Formats: sequence, C-alpha cells, structure tokens
Amino acid sequence: MTTLEAIRVSPEWLDLRESADAAARSLDLVRQLRSRLPAGGRLVVHDLASGSGSMGRWLAPLLPGPQHWVLHDRDPDLLALAEAPGPAATVEMRLSDVTRLGADELAEANLITASALLDLLTDEELAALVGACAGAGCPVLLTLSVTGSVQLLPADPLDARVAASFDEHQRRITPCGRLLGPDAVGVAAGAFRRLGAEEVAVSPSPWRLGAEEAALTAEWLVGWVDAACEQEPALAADADLYRRRRLREVDAGCLAVTVSHADLLVLP
Ligand SMILES: C[S@@+](CC[C@H](N)C(=O)[O-])C[C@H]1O[C@@H](n2cnc3c(N)ncnc32)[C@H](O)[C@@H]1O
Repeated sequence: MTTLEAIRVSPEWLDLRESADAAARSLDLVRQLRSRLPAGGRLVVHDLASGSGSMGRWLAPLLPGPQHWVLHDRDPDLLALAEAPGPAATVEMRLSDVTRLGADELAEANLITASALLDLLTDEELAALVGACAGAGCPVLLTLSVTGSVQLLPADPLDARVAASFDEHQRRITPCGRLLGPDAVGVAAGAFRRLGAEEVAVSPSPWRLGAEEAALTAEWLVGWVDAACEQEPALAADADLYRRRRLREVDAGCLAVTVSHADLLVLP
C-alpha cells in the first residue's frame, strides 16, 4: 500500500494466512540462500513490512546459528504482536516506512527479507526499496508476491471476469501512483539485475487451498470478489450470486483454490 492510501492489514487476516504462507514459500530458495550466508557468528536479518513477524517464525528455524531479527513496519499495532522467532534469536522492532529506508538503516544486515509486500507498492516505491536492499550488499529474500493467476475447481463461467477485474484492482491508481500488483516480481527482478545482482532466482510459491483451509478460503474469496466489484461495479449483481454459490462450496469442502505467488532470491 502507498503512504497516502495506508490500508491497514488486520492481525486476524495475518493469523489466518500464516500456515498457508508457511506451506507455500520456496524451500529451494532457502537452500540456495543458506549456502551464501556468512559461516559462524550472529546473523542480522532485517524483515521489511514484517507485520506481526510471520516471516521470522517460518525462516528463523531454517537458518543456522544465533540470529538478531530487526522487524520494520509502519503499523505499531502489528509490531507490538511480534516476538523473538525462536530461542536462539533476539528481536528489535522499528516503526518505519520501508519505501524510505536510508542506506545506514540496513548497513549491518546479513540478510534482508519481506513477505507479501511487493505487489502493494508503486513502481517508485519498489525502486526505492530495491535500491536500499542492493545498497546493503547482502542476500535478499522477498516471498509471496501475488502474480495474478488464480484457479478455482470446479470452474465457474464467472471466474475469469472476477479474476481480470481483481488484477486491475491490484494495479489501480492511488494518490501515490499506480500499484504494481501482479507485475511486481518481474519489475523487482529487473531492477536488481540492473543494479548488478549476481543471481536473481524466482520460484513459484502458490497457496493451495482445500477443505482444510476453509476459513482462509472463505475470507480470501470474499475479499477477492469485493475488490473485483469495486473495480468493476457492473459486476456486482452477478457477483452476488457467484459469491454465495462459491461460499456454499467452501462450506461443503468441495472448492479447491490455487492462488499464484512468487518468491524472489537475490544474491549480490
Ligand atoms: C500483507 S501484510 C504482510 C505482513 C507480513 N510480512 C506477513 O507476511 O505476515 C503487509 C504488511 O506491509 C506493511 N506495509 C505496507 N506498506 C508499508 C510501508 N511502506 N512501510 C512499512 N510497512 C508497510 C503493512 O503494515 C503490513 O504489515
């Protein structure tokens, strides 16, 4: 989200998605990352737009040795919920806008991470974030950016129209500029390459939601359809029936949803 259009993310939504996020993030990229971290000593990890710290809870146990996590977010209520992500880790919270980080703020980092952030940024904000990360000269792992493709099974004739309107909503114009939405990963990868990154790897990290994830699927579905209708008000009448039909399928445990995301690993 942009600074002027600072839509707040609820802690309940972050809780609901945490296990699906953990199952989706790419372990292959973590294996590549581990081979490029300094051996021995304490790792300093800066997690940008950390929310309540879900990235640390997933990643800290997968990284070696003692760690110090610095969590950056502009929402003090989410930061207040975060704790050290493990017995060998310490944590520090920083209330900050991650699109305006100065070079000195990431100077000590051995690793920079973010999760579910890039698609919320404008081109200009992303360029500033990439510049700050590249300036730190350490590996960067940016996970779970929305890439736009959604599959619902069984299929419904209205799926494609809702999906297209949702994608346009992701790319909507805000007072700070157009949001990148599904284009964010490609733009970020290109920007890191132009700044001289040695390796930029992209790996798919889809949510695969079935009967076990009914609460998350229902919440996601309602948000997905509402955003599509906000973008294309003419969709509202059809979407109302569609939403009810789809929620009945979620209740009956017979709707499977795949929501595409991508993870990005940058090695300087
Ligand atoms: C979808 S949530 C993801 C939170 C967390 N990374 C996770 O995976 O649970 C997006 C987060 O980005 C934060 N955020 C968005 N734009 C930001 C900015 N410019 N500066 C700092 N935090 C920002 C929000 O406050 C929110 O916590």
